[in-house]
Amino acid sequence: VWILPLPGLWSVRLVASFGLFLLALQIACGDVSYSFPEEMKRGSVVGNIAKDLGIEVGKLGARKARIDADGNSKRYCDINLSTGDIIVADRIDREGLCGKKASCVLKQELVLENPLELHSISVHVQDINDNSPQFKKNTIKFEIGESAPKGSRYRLDEAHDADVGQNAIQGYSIEANENFRLNGGGRKHSELVLVKELDREQEKELKLVLTAVDGGSPQRSGTATIHVTVLDANDNAPVFSQAIYKVSLPENSPVDTVVVTVSATDADEGPNGDITYNFDHLSEDHVSLFSLDHKTGEIRVVGSVDYETETSIELRVRAKDGPGLTSYSTVILDITDVNDNPPVISLKSLTNPIPENVSPGTEVGIINVQDRDSESNRQVRCTIQQGAPFNLVPSIKNYYSLVTTGQLDRELVSDYNITITATDEGSPPLSSSKTVQLSVADINDNPPVFEEQSYSAYVSENNKPGSTLCSVTARDPDWRQNGTVIYSLLPGEVNGAPVSSYVSVNGDTGVIHAVRSFDYEQFRSFKVQVMARDNGSPPLSSNVTVSVFVADQHQRAGCSQCLTKLVSGQIEQLIFVYSMFLRPEVPENVVYTLIPYFFNF
Ligand SMILES: *[C@@H]1O[C@H](CO)[C@@H](O)[C@H](O)[C@H]1NC(C)=O
Ligand SMILES: *[C@@H]1O[C@H](CO)[C@@H](O)[C@H](O)[C@H]1NC(C)=O
Ligand SMILES: *[C@@H]1O[C@H](CO)[C@@H](O)[C@H](O)[C@H]1NC(C)=O
Repeated sequence: VWILPLPGLWSVRLVASFGLFLLALQIACGDVSYSFPEEMKRGSVVGNIAKDLGIEVGKLGARKARIDADGNSKRYCDINLSTGDIIVADRIDREGLCGKKASCVLKQELVLENPLELHSISVHVQDINDNSPQFKKNTIKFEIGESAPKGSRYRLDEAHDADVGQNAIQGYSIEANENFRLNGGGRKHSELVLVKELDREQEKELKLVLTAVDGGSPQRSGTATIHVTVLDANDNAPVFSQAIYKVSLPENSPVDTVVVTVSATDADEGPNGDITYNFDHLSEDHVSLFSLDHKTGEIRVVGSVDYETETSIELRVRAKDGPGLTSYSTVILDITDVNDNPPVISLKSLTNPIPENVSPGTEVGIINVQDRDSESNRQVRCTIQQGAPFNLVPSIKNYYSLVTTGQLDRELVSDYNITITATDEGSPPLSSSKTVQLSVADINDNPPVFEEQSYSAYVSENNKPGSTLCSVTARDPDWRQNGTVIYSLLPGEVNGAPVSSYVSVNGDTGVIHAVRSFDYEQFRSFKVQVMARDNGSPPLSSNVTVSVFVADQHQRAGCSQCLTKLVSGQIEQLIFVYSMFLRPEVPENVVYTLIPYFFNF
């Protein structure tokens, strides 16, 4: 039996070229063998059996030549009795007949009668490339974690090609891509190899066309889609929208004011991309000032933010994803000033009490004004209550001098309550005031002053020594000893004798006493000088004249004895009393006391 070593189309060509030579061999063997491609049309000539067996064509009909199937097999060939050709009678499908078997031989028999002859005909069915490679499924699914290392391998389903030999699958190829290539060039069975790590965040899924090709001519191919779903790995840390959030926040912002909302994104999915926000190393002071919503990243005011405590606050914020990858951002709060501090007035020094004789323009105090706010909120104007002889003079920086603007007089005003008001230039402005209490200290600037310009004393003669003549009073508005009055007699002479031998004055009360009994016949009147002196140092004094009038006792006695004699003189008496009224140095009450004497009541 001739065995054809070459498969496929090659063999068909060879058969055609060396046909004669081969047929000669077959005759010698008695049986006939043909090589014939599958799927030829009915009626196609496989070979000429008459020639090959050396039978006369004309005798074929007579000998009832016919083709029988060998055994149970089907009859695929027929014989053309007029030419002796073996022709295709039924569809010859190599794959249907032999599957993947490397050689496919169709056994038929030529039956001749008279005499009966049996010739076995072997038709070697040659494969033609009539089947394409085919994958079991159109889609090949993979789920590959993005953390899969380079070099990871993934077995691919093989494609199937019903054809054999060269017409069977010769190789695989994959659509050009960055991540995968086929192992070993895809020659044999196909295996995906990861050549570049996957990144879910860049590409969630890949679709690659896998192609299987056979070696036929023309070549046939089949495709399937490799569908790679990239599974997430927590390979991305959260990323803040800003590395630094700069925010300006007015101090005293009410509780619940939203300061800023920080935000971070995480490219990963699911819990790998779930972000929670927290403060990082927040100082005790700031814990009570700000809150951070773990989910939304909203920072709110929860306490009282004070510009005067801190003008700038830095908060570190941390964003963390589910498995714990972390990133940080900084929130810089620029606190802006609000006019919430009134000026504070402090009295740095004060001369108190102030002597009343200080000259105008004397500095009596130093005042300092502070405002804890800033900018115009700390610009302060100071005013002083009008009406008092004091003024504020701006000095160095925020110092003011309190100076007198006029002459002080303790005897007029001894105490001042001076109100100083400081107002800042905030909007609305805040102000505060302070009252400075000032006392004026006494200076002995007032001499004692007698209530009268002069005094007169009336006494009847033969008075008792030590009797009271009159009293003088001087007033001194100064303070304490500067205003304490001491009376004394100024030295002098009356009728050649010292005045002190006639009268004396009580130094404390100013009451003047007679030292001896006076005699009307000796003198009718005399004058003494009384001095009022204060106790100041140096003391001040003033002098006053006291006139003493002595009245005649006989006249009085006479008057009482001879009232009738005097009646005629009553007009004279009245004129005298009247004249006494006119004398300015004689006080009215003294005149009244004299009347009974004259009229001898
Ligand atoms: C000053 O203030 C004090 C205390 O308030 C008060 O006792 C005093 O009378 C005031 N003096 C004047 C002159 O207003
Ligand atoms: C009296 O005046 C003098 C100055 O003339 C002064 O030094 C003194 O302190 C004053 N005395 C009193 C009690 O005010
Ligand atoms: C009062 O009189 C005395 C003695 O003559 C004299 O020294 C003194 O200056 C006088 N005082 C006044 C205020 O005139």
